[in-house]
Amino acid sequence: MSKRIALFASGTGSNARVLIDRFREHPEDGVEVVLLVSNKSTAGALMMAAERGLPTLVVKRADWTEGKELLRALDALRVDLIVLAGFLWLIPAYLVQAYPNKIVNIHPALLPKYGGKGMYGRHVHEAVKAAGEVESGITIHYVDENYDEGSIIYQAAVRLDPEDTAEQIAERVLRLEHGNYWRVVYGL
Ligand code: GAR
Repeated sequence: MSKRIALFASGTGSNARVLIDRFREHPEDGVEVVLLVSNKSTAGALMMAAERGLPTLVVKRADWTEGKELLRALDALRVDLIVLAGFLWLIPAYLVQAYPNKIVNIHPALLPKYGGKGMYGRHVHEAVKAAGEVESGITIHYVDENYDEGSIIYQAAVRLDPEDTAEQIAERVLRLEHGNYWRVVYGL
């Protein structure tokens, strides 16, 4: 049976793009991305999705607290898995309850290290660099009502050189995300 996915993204959307393109190019995977949701009307992810003819939805703060419009859209499109790809708002209780163990996130570090509120994007890589870590990586996990605390599905690590800048760490981690997120989503 095929799986219907809604992607949630706040930024550039490179992970979202990889997932959309992968599953379009491989219909035999039985995974269909049917919607891209963003909290930011200027997000690159929205333009990327629109260019691909994918339905998009921008959620406003006012609707987010109750989620009526969002839940209606997810229901109408028969979404059975929500995939967060650089989405920065905390997922509210009503959404966790409506999609139990059906919301996954990717985090650009080896949780439980470098997670929690405010730990996203470059902030993560700068903290990893400042701590002099010898490795970083990615964590794919189920989403609960707290930032970065749901149970872990998959992790992969990269070795770091002491000379690596935060930007170089970010690039290597992002490459690891692109190579792995779709595979993990496919296997769920
Ligand atoms: C990714 O590195 C993702 O892991 C991170 O934001 C980036 C989004 O990049 N997510 C978080 O930090 C969540 N706490 P993208 O828009 O190019 O996919």
